[in-house]
Amino acid sequence: MSDYLTVLLALTAAVSAQSEPPGVSSPVAQKCGPSSANIVCLEKYASVLPYHFFRNRTVEEPLTFGSTSVPNDTSFGLVQDADFLVFDHERAFELLGDSPTYDFVFEVSPAVHEAPVYVPSLNKLFMSQLAPPPGYLPQLVVDLNQDPPTLSEYLSDPPVYAPNGGTFYNGLIYWGASGGNLSIGGTEQRPGIRTLDPHTNKTTTLLNNYFGYYFNCVDDLFVDASGAVWFTDPFYSWFNRLTDTAPQLPAASYRFDPRTGSVSVVDTSLHEPNGIALSPDGKHVYISDTGAVSGDVTPAGPPGSPWNQTGARTVFKFDVVDNGTKIANKRPIWLSQDWVPDGLKVAANGYVLTGAGSGVDVLDEFGVLIARVQTNYTVQNFAWVGEDLTEFWIMGNNGVSRVRWGLKGQDLANLKGY
Ligand SMILES: *[C@@H]1O[C@H](CO)[C@@H](O)[C@H](O)[C@H]1NC(C)=O
Ligand SMILES: *[C@@H]1O[C@H](CO)[C@@H](O)[C@H](O)[C@H]1NC(C)=O
Ligand SMILES: *[C@@H]1O[C@H](CO)[C@@H](O)[C@H](O)[C@H]1NC(C)=O
Ligand SMILES: *[C@@H]1O[C@H](CO)[C@@H](O)[C@H](O)[C@H]1NC(C)=O
Ligand SMILES: *[C@@H]1O[C@H](CO)[C@@H](O)[C@H](O)[C@H]1NC(C)=O
Ligand SMILES: *[C@@H]1O[C@H](CO)[C@@H](O)[C@H](O)[C@H]1NC(C)=O
Ligand SMILES: *[C@@H]1O[C@H](CO)[C@@H](O)[C@H](O)[C@H]1NC(C)=O
Repeated sequence: MSDYLTVLLALTAAVSAQSEPPGVSSPVAQKCGPSSANIVCLEKYASVLPYHFFRNRTVEEPLTFGSTSVPNDTSFGLVQDADFLVFDHERAFELLGDSPTYDFVFEVSPAVHEAPVYVPSLNKLFMSQLAPPPGYLPQLVVDLNQDPPTLSEYLSDPPVYAPNGGTFYNGLIYWGASGGNLSIGGTEQRPGIRTLDPHTNKTTTLLNNYFGYYFNCVDDLFVDASGAVWFTDPFYSWFNRLTDTAPQLPAASYRFDPRTGSVSVVDTSLHEPNGIALSPDGKHVYISDTGAVSGDVTPAGPPGSPWNQTGARTVFKFDVVDNGTKIANKRPIWLSQDWVPDGLKVAANGYVLTGAGSGVDVLDEFGVLIARVQTNYTVQNFAWVGEDLTEFWIMGNNGVSRVRWGLKGQDLANLKGY
């Protein structure tokens, strides 16, 4: 062998050693599992990608993991269009079950779609649609008794402006009403907690102020087994001009006792506290911080909430303490892989789900990613429906979709004391 050739071979080896790091996962993605859906398994979480890979910064819209350019492993191309991404192979197939399906069911407006609440006695899924258009008052209802299900507008009595979170407790829908205006639907409304009796269509206000101040944007909420309502109060209604008054309170999370009327703050550390959820055993509260989407809180500030690539997009876990009235031991468990962790709910088995960008991440109780459902629209929230709560509806800007799988939701209609 000539010296020239030896040098050339050594150089070639050095170059390919640089583009293919030792330990690279290859192929990084493969089709896997039941054929009822487009399921793609990632090898070891794609933890070592071949060079040169690149995922660009998000500018105004979420840029998905699947949009990462990985020219040296064409299998990565499977990621973008998968219905389900499988990361923890064993636990993901357990939760997907024998024949998981994903269906895009309704095209909806580009507005935010939120506050999904399943009412078992009616077999209907209620959800909200926030402005635009400004002043839009009705909610939406999916009638699951129809095949295929139908979607229609719903107006309660009196109407409730801009529910941004919802849950079901003791036969009533509890709404986190996020809008505030001197005259909306003919009356004044302020952010707070409202209930709807889905059988009479009547609504009641449980809370509309904090010692005279307006809440900023009652966003998401849950009701614990004692009947206390825990809710987040970020700033979004001002950024989106769903309220006529700039924030009067810091962004915070609260616990409200409807029996006594008392409201106590439980956390003031998050930039934009958003999703909030309780573990089935009542021992842990999860709250997401979506501060990467935020804006100007001053009265003269411009509307809008621009994206900040290095801003907060974290799910935190807390322990419930002080006889069930407070939370402590805050720790981050998940940094969203896409956009911000908006909707947040806990499955019957304790798995934590968060809607973030174009999909829903399924995490274990310690924040280890098991699987992701992918959508072609930005997800705001989701809810389980049906008799055995294994049907899962997802909604967001432009779309509503349905997943059938083995992962059960918590039975809110039969919430028991701990
Ligand atoms: C990344 O995004 C920026 C801003 O949109 C764009 O200018 C740039 O060309 C993108 N880079 C690549 C490599 O795609
Ligand atoms: C990796 O990709 C780059 C750019 O596409 C290419 O120039 C290079 O030859 C590839 N390397 C290997 C080992 O395939
Ligand atoms: C209150 O809501 C009405 C109806 O959407 C709207 O026309 C009006 O501009 C709002 N007022 C303020 C101050 O935001
Ligand atoms: C409640 O509203 C629904 C949907 O608009 C309607 O079908 C139903 O008759 C109403 N119920 C009552 C008691 O008014
Ligand atoms: C983006 O978020 C980071 C981290 O919180 C912060 O330091 C930075 O000032 C933010 N940038 C803007 C433009 O708000
Ligand atoms: C703890 O909570 C229970 C049930 O909510 C209540 O009966 C009890 O009085 C509380 N204990 C204290 C010390 O407040
Ligand atoms: C998402 O996909 C469905 C069909 O699968 C399509 O009807 C819809 O227009 C798509 N939405 C967006 C925002 O691309």
